[in-house]
Amino acid sequence: MEKKLIADFKKRFKVKPKVVASAPGRINIIGEHTDYNNGFVLPAAIDRRINFLASSRADDKVVIRAENFEEEDSFNLPVSGKSETKKWSNYIRGVLWVLKTRGEKISGLNILIYGEVPLEAGLSSSAALEVSCITGLNSLYHMGFSPEEIAKIGQKAENDFVGVKCGLMDQFISVFGQKDSAVFLDCLTLEYKIIPFELKSRGLRIIIYNTRVKRKLAGSEYNKRRSEANSALDELKKNGIQSFRDISVVEIEKRKKNMEEKLFKRAKHVVSENYRVKKAVEALNNNDFIQLGKLLFFSHKSLRDDYQVSCPELNLLYECGRRFPTCLGARMTGAGFGGSGIAIVREETKNSFKDLVLKEADKKGFVKPEFYDVEIGEGARAVQT
Ligand code: GLA
Repeated sequence: MEKKLIADFKKRFKVKPKVVASAPGRINIIGEHTDYNNGFVLPAAIDRRINFLASSRADDKVVIRAENFEEEDSFNLPVSGKSETKKWSNYIRGVLWVLKTRGEKISGLNILIYGEVPLEAGLSSSAALEVSCITGLNSLYHMGFSPEEIAKIGQKAENDFVGVKCGLMDQFISVFGQKDSAVFLDCLTLEYKIIPFELKSRGLRIIIYNTRVKRKLAGSEYNKRRSEANSALDELKKNGIQSFRDISVVEIEKRKKNMEEKLFKRAKHVVSENYRVKKAVEALNNNDFIQLGKLLFFSHKSLRDDYQVSCPELNLLYECGRRFPTCLGARMTGAGFGGSGIAIVREETKNSFKDLVLKEADKKGFVKPEFYDVEIGEGARAVQT
């Protein structure tokens, strides 16, 4: 792949790329809508990446070729605003904009991007693009960013330029992911631990189920959940609780009668999800995949009923998972309102599980979903050529 992309780059720009970088998409095993609530998450990088090739130019022009779409965008530095027609370009524009606000000196660039992360599938293709771009430019211009800074620059590009108020999880895992491992991240302190997550030798498989539902609501409802969670926390603060992580599942139940129902539900999800993430880490450390699977099912229920970010297509995966004897666990992954789900199934039964889901989706008249058998891959990397 890399060789072909280098050849494509040379053909288009008549020069060699100076840097070849890439960064992965992700699944989140558990810990949903907890990152921006100063909680815990347990994502893993997948072996599908976005590739970023670049060389610098003598002028101020940036030319980006998106191989997937056979499209190009070009503009002059400094970045003056978003592209209305080429949405993919905004993640790179956003990164260049953040770098400028940080006072980094960047010349014009020739860029080629090619992605293998399914787009608009809730698998963080946008974080992968941002992180591959920053990793590449960090190497090209010797900017000396630490891995943590790379993740934060990506998040800032997304928050302040693209306009999605996401947490740090997606960019963090795209930088820090490791093969056959999940990353247990404390989103308050940014301390993290690498947790072995190896399914193959246990005869298990992780399947991604892409609902292919267009996530129209994702942006607006995501921001709404953030503000509802903030309001819920404000309520708790009146009683001296500073963070969702400081309260137990039992204690939050006791607050039910004093809180507006919706806010109580939002708080209950975050508090219980934090607990489940810690339990999931424990389960993985004990090689207890049965327990991990149960936690996945509980997480889905909580996202469906309390945080209310699921949709019928995602619920279908959960319901099929419940019915299928060798499915250990299943749930939505990422922001919700469409996008993807994950299921852990026994390897030899994975095709019958997919058949079941396909059949049920068809019965309900859903868009035909897609499945991806993925491996857990590496975080971002860059090499100078
Ligand atoms: C999106 C965001 C993340 C996180 C998840 C929900 O993927 O980008 O920061 O909030 O949703 O867990």
